[in-house]
Amino acid sequence: MKGVTVVDHPLVQHKLTIMRDKETSTAGFRRLLREISLLLCYEVTRDLDLTTRTIETPLMPMEAPTLEGKKLVFASVLRAGNGLLDGMLDLVPAARVAHIGLYRDHDTLQAVEYFFKAPSNLEDRLVIVVDPMLATANSAIAAIDKLKERGATNLRFLCLLAAPEGIERFTKAHPDVPVFTASIDEKLNEKGYIVPGLGDAGDRMYGTK
Ligand code: PRP
Ligand code: URA
Repeated sequence: MKGVTVVDHPLVQHKLTIMRDKETSTAGFRRLLREISLLLCYEVTRDLDLTTRTIETPLMPMEAPTLEGKKLVFASVLRAGNGLLDGMLDLVPAARVAHIGLYRDHDTLQAVEYFFKAPSNLEDRLVIVVDPMLATANSAIAAIDKLKERGATNLRFLCLLAAPEGIERFTKAHPDVPVFTASIDEKLNEKGYIVPGLGDAGDRMYGTK
């Protein structure tokens, strides 16, 4: 599928299977999401720009590669996005963070915004939006709409699970935004849940509902 990367690394797939299992505890689910976020971050940042700086090794000076970390923003779609965010910040501590508060209305499945805070100068930055679930894509589309409104032009979307219907809607709405996911599941059910899926990611992370 154009613009979509499925991260099929065996470690990702193994951990995802444990997360899907309804017997996995809240603590276990959160720990696995954090672990998977490190592996997904590796893929989504694979082609990041490097610059160099002069250092001295114990043997000699060298021009050594270093990330242009200041230009990167991780945008977490609350609440569940935070489960991916923390591990990604461990790997790229210099990244800036945006928070986008969205919840899915249970009846209409529309995304309702309740919070937005982002670093300035989004037009100069690569913005990686993180949310474990891409179901109808209403939340992902709303998050990207908002970031574009605030000037972002260079964006990527990282999730754990996607529904084929959500991928189709998302890539139509934002064809310029590459999607990274660990799995494209079978379909959405009549309530807008991804199946087989893993349930409600926010509830499983925080033990709510
Ligand atoms: C979940 C998930 C996504 C959204 C995906 O969040 O984390 O943000 O649903 O569904 P969509 O593609 O159909 O919009 P939810 O609204 O349940 O909020 P929460 O993370 O606070 O639980
Ligand atoms: N949001 C979730 O957390 N899970 C789904 O399956 C769909 C939307």
